[in-house]
Amino acid sequence: MPDPVEISRDGHVALLRLNRPEARNALSPEMMEQIAATLEAFDPDPDIRCVVIAGSEKVFAAGADIKAMSERSFAEALRHPASSFWRRLGAVKTPTIAAVSGYALGGGCELALACDMIVASDTALFGQPEITLGIIPGGGGTQRLARVLGKQLAMEYVLTGRRFDADMGLRMGLVNKVVKKGKWLQEAMDLAQTVAERPPIATRLAKQAVLGAEETSLSAGLENERRLYELAMATEDRVEGMQAFLEKREPKFEGK
Ligand code: CAA
Repeated sequence: MPDPVEISRDGHVALLRLNRPEARNALSPEMMEQIAATLEAFDPDPDIRCVVIAGSEKVFAAGADIKAMSERSFAEALRHPASSFWRRLGAVKTPTIAAVSGYALGGGCELALACDMIVASDTALFGQPEITLGIIPGGGGTQRLARVLGKQLAMEYVLTGRRFDADMGLRMGLVNKVVKKGKWLQEAMDLAQTVAERPPIATRLAKQAVLGAEETSLSAGLENERRLYELAMATEDRVEGMQAFLEKREPKFEGK
């Protein structure tokens, strides 16, 4: 049985590729554990500065594993690893990019939404079809869609289970970039390489500051940003960054 998640490295960028084509990359418990454990293992590694999560050309992920879910009792659902999977993803400090081609449905859409940015192929189709199965999204779909799209549009997609395409995702602010079929993964890797070239402590602080906007009031968010900015001012990388600018040369960031 091949690994449900293939892991590779390109410089400071790690790539996780979901690999369960026979089930359209449905998120099995093994797959979720491998994704969460890999991201947690990368988090303290100073050599990993950005992570890309991708599926195949045809499917990013078709959601939670419906076969496994159909047999789960209420008590089992409470204990299931999925209940901690989304919290574990939310705790990752390394910047993450979802590279989406084909279907990103249910938990697949939620996995993309849990990443910091989304690069999509023009074939990508997003949606939260849980309602058609008699359930509702359980991996952050209602909350993250409402924050990105606003209440009205989130309601429409969550209550109908309708899909939307990459261009619509771009117009609604959910997708960062739409790329032609075949080029989406390279585009996501290029974006990740650019993030990885930036000073890594600052990119993590910046991620924390931006995510703070979803959690707090403006005044608390501004205060949080100020503290994180002050932390950035204490790094060696910012001395190097400013010195390099003044000396008209490229900076060499060490992650210190
Ligand atoms: N779980 C388990 N198996 C799945 C699956 C899923 N989410 N999605 C697809 N599969 C399986 C199918 O059962 C089928 O298996 P068999 O060959 O053994 O019959 C195989 O993958 C191929 O599927 P299709 O023939 O349907 O493939 P397709 O290319 O015609 O269609 C698709 C692809 C549009 C993604 C379609 O498979 C689909 O609609 N899948 C379900 C999507 C969905 O409802 N996701 C929400 C899941 S619930 C959830 O995610 C809960 C949560 O938020 C926590």
